[in-house]
Amino acid sequence: MTDLLIKSADLIGKGRTDVLVRDGRIAEVGSISAKGADTVDADGLVLLPGLVDLHTHLREPGREDAETVLTGTRAAAKGGYTAVCAMANSYPVADTAGVVEQVAALGRAAGYADVQPIGAVSVGLEGKRLAEIGAMAHSAAEVRMFSDDGHCVADPVLMRRALEYVKTFGGLIAQHAEEPRLTEGAQMNEGAVSAELGLPGWPSVAEEAIIARDVLLAEYTGARIHFCHVSTARSVDIIREAKARGAKVTAEVCPHHLLLTDEAARSYDPVYKVNPPLRREADVAVLRAALAEGVIDAVATDHAPHALQDKQCEWAAARPGMLGLETALSISVLALGGPAGVDWDLLAERTSRAPARIAGLEAHGRDPRPGVEANFTLVDPAATWTVVPEDLASLSRNTPYAGMELPVTVQATFLRGRATVLNGKIEEETTE
Ligand code: DOR
Ligand code: ZN
Repeated sequence: MTDLLIKSADLIGKGRTDVLVRDGRIAEVGSISAKGADTVDADGLVLLPGLVDLHTHLREPGREDAETVLTGTRAAAKGGYTAVCAMANSYPVADTAGVVEQVAALGRAAGYADVQPIGAVSVGLEGKRLAEIGAMAHSAAEVRMFSDDGHCVADPVLMRRALEYVKTFGGLIAQHAEEPRLTEGAQMNEGAVSAELGLPGWPSVAEEAIIARDVLLAEYTGARIHFCHVSTARSVDIIREAKARGAKVTAEVCPHHLLLTDEAARSYDPVYKVNPPLRREADVAVLRAALAEGVIDAVATDHAPHALQDKQCEWAAARPGMLGLETALSISVLALGGPAGVDWDLLAERTSRAPARIAGLEAHGRDPRPGVEANFTLVDPAATWTVVPEDLASLSRNTPYAGMELPVTVQATFLRGRATVLNGKIEEETTE
């Protein structure tokens, strides 16, 4: 492969710097003139370590009408991601070594982002028997994170056993915190808006009660727990206290919970239906502050593509979930102070370094230094773009940001030194 020279990129903490890439790794960082290298003019562009998503629904196997590993990772690359963790709620469920190996292989074949499968905690996500956690951990996919996402691991005995099991090999459980008895029939956040609209509510305590319980179980077992899509102010309090005691707790927040509120449900447009639901303005403010402070470690998309018929229907019949990969960077910038005020180092921490550490993806979330894999993205901090659903790389169209003008564009993404996105466009040739 020819050397690649990134010219005059804005490096975090360094200012305008050149970066030389050779054989998929960073070879040199500084003021470089390299004859014969392919050169990318990055003047005015910020270089970030490639974004890492802890929470992506790729839908393959089983719902290839909504997304495939190929289309989902193309969307990821376009959003500046170099690695995504694929949730286990596929059909069949990723609860065996065979399925997680299949998903990882599809990711390698696609070549747009590293795909790290997440294994199910329970067989069929049914919450009854532990899945083949050990077999998935020791498979070629080397699964470290396990989640029944979409469902809560509601049985405390099952959760205890799962925590004890993953502790033996340094793994972790990612919990979708939703006490199922408290959310039966729920359609949106429980509060003034749900009362007005007459829709059954999803009370914040259903999330908080499980987070409180699981913090205690994690402390009792000494295992690691991660909380998916934290959405309420009280959840933040509980996590802050747990961290202060030294519990091995990490947490993520989704872009939509950092921007949108339950007021959106007044439209009755199911594009705003998501689980956990959009909350109140006061929750949004607390989540933003917690992300800035680090009580919440990472932004994770919960990219949840759905086929048209599952979204363009009445609210109660619609599936929960929204697209996230192609808009997450822009929304994160908005949530962390806007394009003029954003601290790029903090942004890199929450969208790349921290999620890479949580998932154990050592080749990702690394700032450019000689020797590290060349997984990075170039963003234009001054540009804006308008979200046009038809233009998205995802196979699905369920974005809540259609027509919105958002800050910051991804100009290029590099995976092991190879462009997956260049000049804002997906590269069609990705074979290494
Ligand atoms: O909104 C959601 N969609 N929340 C989940 O927990 C699952 C996800 C999905 O799979 O569509
Ligand atoms: Zn979930």
